[in-house]
Amino acid sequence: MKDWSDIYEFLQPIEPMFCPETPSLTQKTYLRSLSLEALFGGAAGGGKSSALLMAALQYVDVPNYSAILFRRTYADLALPGALMDRFLSWVKEYDEIHWNGSTYVATFPSSARITFGYLNNQNDYLRYKSSEFQFIGMDEVTEIREFDYRYMFSRLRKPNSGALAQVPLRMRSASNPAPNWVRQRFIVEGAENKRIFVPSFLDDNPGIDPESYRRALQEIDPIERQRLENGDWWAVTTGSLFDREAFIIIEPSDIPEFKQPQYIRFWDLAATEPSHVNPDPDWTVGVLGVFDQGVF
Ligand SMILES: Nc1ncnc2c1ncn2[C@@H]1O[C@H](COP(=O)(O)OP(=O)(O)OP(=O)(O)O)[C@@H](O)[C@H]1O
Ligand SMILES: [Mg+2]
Repeated sequence: MKDWSDIYEFLQPIEPMFCPETPSLTQKTYLRSLSLEALFGGAAGGGKSSALLMAALQYVDVPNYSAILFRRTYADLALPGALMDRFLSWVKEYDEIHWNGSTYVATFPSSARITFGYLNNQNDYLRYKSSEFQFIGMDEVTEIREFDYRYMFSRLRKPNSGALAQVPLRMRSASNPAPNWVRQRFIVEGAENKRIFVPSFLDDNPGIDPESYRRALQEIDPIERQRLENGDWWAVTTGSLFDREAFIIIEPSDIPEFKQPQYIRFWDLAATEPSHVNPDPDWTVGVLGVFDQGVF
């Protein structure tokens, strides 16, 4: 009989250290990924935030390893049960881990560090201008500006020799679905660009009671419920006038020649400013309609 234990071992991710939760199968899939970019996204309560912490903790035995975990605001980071608070509850029993409460940096016995940060204001990214990380994690990444996300790639690097050279460079994120740049980057363009997307489902998390949570989710708005309960990235309120899916998109070269064209231009001037809850509001859009009288 074939011995599969080698393959099984090979498929296991590097175990996160100082972590009291045993990764679920989906979390292991996320932890096993060595690709530059990966998103754990979908239903609420699927274990995404824990998975980000676990991923940051995978290489803390490597001297000088440096990881950073972001949320959009400091308040989001520090709320009870949120990322930083959960991390501190995980590591508080280890005296050998030193926590600096003013810089939000945890230093491990190996000298590895995990930092917590936020990217709330437009210039916050500049605070990380001269830093260097091997792991960058962003929780609720759909609340973070695309510019900040992309800028942080410039902070991902490592030396070319020594133990740190063996550590993969990883940009990791987690989020509930939202119809913004994250959906475009991972769900639409992810596969062709080798960006890994691991879908999150409530039933995958061994640490949560899915039945009572599902009952609670019945109370929320139907679109938000589609996102949070089913991890649906395409749940959007369709306009009441027409369904955009009903249009057939053609190439500019396929536009026919008009015999007696009449043009109608209409502008929808977007006025909503980007905000925390709506970081990527609609753009101003213009429609140029052509009515060809010569056809009739
Ligand atoms: N592998 C695990 N074993 C035990 N408990 C877990 C595990 N993964 C996550 N949990 C616990 O389950 C709860 C929900 O997990 P988590 O907050 O990571 O989910 P989430 O997908 O980030 O949720 P949300 O969509 O609300 O942000 C937390 O209390 C967390 O500590
Ligand atoms: Mg979370």
